[in-house]
Amino acid sequence: MNRCETIDALRGHVKTVRAEGKKVGFIPTMGALHPGHASLITKAREMCEEVVVSIFVNPTQFNSREDFEAYPLTLNEDISVAQKSGAALVFTPSLDELYAGDFALETLDYGLLTSRYEGQSRLGHFDGVVAVVRKLFSAVDPDMAFFGEKDLQQLAIIRRLAREEFNGLEVIACPLVREDDGLAMSSRNVRLSGRYRQDALALFHWVNRVKKAAETKADISGLLQTISGEAELMKHIELEYIDVVNAETFEPLRSRFERYNAFVIVAARVGGVRLIDNCRLACS
Ligand code: PAF
Repeated sequence: MNRCETIDALRGHVKTVRAEGKKVGFIPTMGALHPGHASLITKAREMCEEVVVSIFVNPTQFNSREDFEAYPLTLNEDISVAQKSGAALVFTPSLDELYAGDFALETLDYGLLTSRYEGQSRLGHFDGVVAVVRKLFSAVDPDMAFFGEKDLQQLAIIRRLAREEFNGLEVIACPLVREDDGLAMSSRNVRLSGRYRQDALALFHWVNRVKKAAETKADISGLLQTISGEAELMKHIELEYIDVVNAETFEPLRSRFERYNAFVIVAARVGGVRLIDNCRLACS
């Protein structure tokens, strides 16, 4: 597997493999790779002959310096995971290589997609995500880009970005991957110490309850309120939101889930660690 740090070297590599008739798949990451990331790389390898993985901890998408500084850095392990999962090239640019000292961000307005839920709780977060993904898409120029459904709202925003600015780029959604006990895999999970690791399972239980209720056509509004009430009584958990939305538009849904791409979404802080989870509502 190759590794490069400059956009010029990356473009040179992509040009060569394109000339060989290979399709290029791309997975942008911030490192701290776990089996969820590995599943994206494996999927990309099934669909593309050449897979590029970027590893770059993007400072502009963090809401606090503390969160940015707490982000785990595991480059050597990441390179090994990328290689084992089938990547041909790892792109590890420096801050300067991507931003060239210019950190000014455009405020993105994709309506509800950028103003509700994650957009509301993490002001400016998606401005930073889109800024870096735009730079990475321009540098790599992939045929396909692979994103996890774990970050469902990010996925919807990237789809729109691709549609509006990267003609021909196909965005492929890959399923959320869970630990054996159901916790959604996340690079933040390593920060869940002691009993918080167990408490964090509340998110998984909540999305499952909503999923089951949707299958039996039970009262979803009532259930969402019940869950919010229960969360208020939980000592170590601060629920930020739980809702059912159309995964393309992020409009809230209360019925007729079968007509839309309906997902239950949740965000909560557990022992100070912010977690998100979601689940598709399959209806009977
Ligand atoms: O999902 C992530 O890890 C990041 O938001 C991304 C897409 C790599 C941009 O920094």
